[in-house]
Amino acid sequence: MKHNKLKPFPKGFFWGGSTSAYQIEGAWNEDGKGPSVIDMAKYPEGTTDFKVASDHYHHYKEDISLLAEMGYKAYRFSIAWTRLYPNGSGELNPKGIEFYNNLINEIVAHGIEPIVTMYHFDLPYALQQKGGWSNRETIDAFEVYAQTLFENFGDRVNYWLTINEQNMMILHGDAIGTVDPNLENPKKELYQQNHHMLVAQAKAMNLCHQMLPNAKIGPAPNIVSIYPASSKPEDIMAAHNYSAIRNWLYLDMAVFGRYNATAWNYFQEKGYVPTILDGDMEVLASANPDFIAFNYYTSQTVAASEEDGSDVGHTGDQHITIGEPGVYKGATNPNLKKNEFGWEIDPVGFRNTLREIYDRYNLPLIITENGLGAFDKLEEGDVVNDPYRIDFLRKHIEQMQLAITDGVEVFGFCPWSAIDLISTHQGCSKRYGFIFVNRDEFDLKDLRRIRKQSFYWYKELIATNGEKLI
Ligand code: BG6
Repeated sequence: MKHNKLKPFPKGFFWGGSTSAYQIEGAWNEDGKGPSVIDMAKYPEGTTDFKVASDHYHHYKEDISLLAEMGYKAYRFSIAWTRLYPNGSGELNPKGIEFYNNLINEIVAHGIEPIVTMYHFDLPYALQQKGGWSNRETIDAFEVYAQTLFENFGDRVNYWLTINEQNMMILHGDAIGTVDPNLENPKKELYQQNHHMLVAQAKAMNLCHQMLPNAKIGPAPNIVSIYPASSKPEDIMAAHNYSAIRNWLYLDMAVFGRYNATAWNYFQEKGYVPTILDGDMEVLASANPDFIAFNYYTSQTVAASEEDGSDVGHTGDQHITIGEPGVYKGATNPNLKKNEFGWEIDPVGFRNTLREIYDRYNLPLIITENGLGAFDKLEEGDVVNDPYRIDFLRKHIEQMQLAITDGVEVFGFCPWSAIDLISTHQGCSKRYGFIFVNRDEFDLKDLRRIRKQSFYWYKELIATNGEKLI
């Protein structure tokens, strides 16, 4: 739809940025923190571990003051479950509470709205050893952890995100999930874990509403428009299949508390039906999110499955389509350029995605990740020129404004990432931030913070509430 006049961004729009605990904090074993699955995982050769990351644990004051200088209205970050409960459950670590109290106080003191992700990939290792999300005890542990969060931080935190990219943990279990790939039917196990996470999420949403009547809570999956590779009806069917199991499964459960028919029949066909205990569906149906948060980097394109052995592609990256025989096959979109890491760049797809989600659920939306990973270079005189990032973000923000003009209710944009941090599986040389952190994969250097060109650009954009996009 073409509009003659664009609607402005709403007053009080949450311009901000995002990070996650394990990718930015470092201090992996300090002040009583227990190990998470991330701390115990193997890292791809040539990339750093997450032990020091951007050392935000020791630099948080400086970091928050830089976000304030950019004019941030909101800051999305995650809490490390293992700082609060080193063993996932049991004894609470007061030092963990102290750190997040200090961090939240600092954020609030700068007039920034904290948006807290409760769990961003870093499951406590102690729980993993007892079966992780395959074990229903993890649901109880998450509930206790959620209660601790609401009790301790609910006086200052009004926006909560339950689980980051649950769908990517399930679909890309070997890249960022917690399942053993050597199991006889690892996908069945993943969908069992998925069910448990959904129940845990529903319980956390209910608890939040009981304990903090003024707070808002929502899920934070990765949702993207799925295109058919052609107008062939079989390709359109494949896109419908993939949308149902990649996108809507997660949001239908969060919002309506039910598995959609396509996803459920896919489970039956493939032998992935999860065990559902008495009471689970009631809990799922009783929980209601106040908004939908989602992450968007790229659209995805699929074709009909050929079932000739060619359907299943590369699996080690959460933003590249894998494919599944009889369901869909990943395809390249010839209309889109790719970034240096093979992810297609699709700002118009962002508008499509916003519209699709809003049409289906009619809930306010916030974007909790969007951004461009690149090999930024530090030039002489502490200069980092990243016009490619500005271009990427500008084009996505333009499309977001078009979606707002289309009638979509959007209340915030928190791109990835506020500050340089460690990528999920591609080290720290793949940078996303507005602020450069001076370190290499294996040389920590001085970890000094340097404002990138995009820092100044975003600052001006925020100051004009999105009017100054160029
Ligand atoms: C999302 C995750 O999948 O994408 C983030 O929520 C992640 O944790 C981001 O960092 C970018 O992906 P990557 O693999 O480049 O770090």
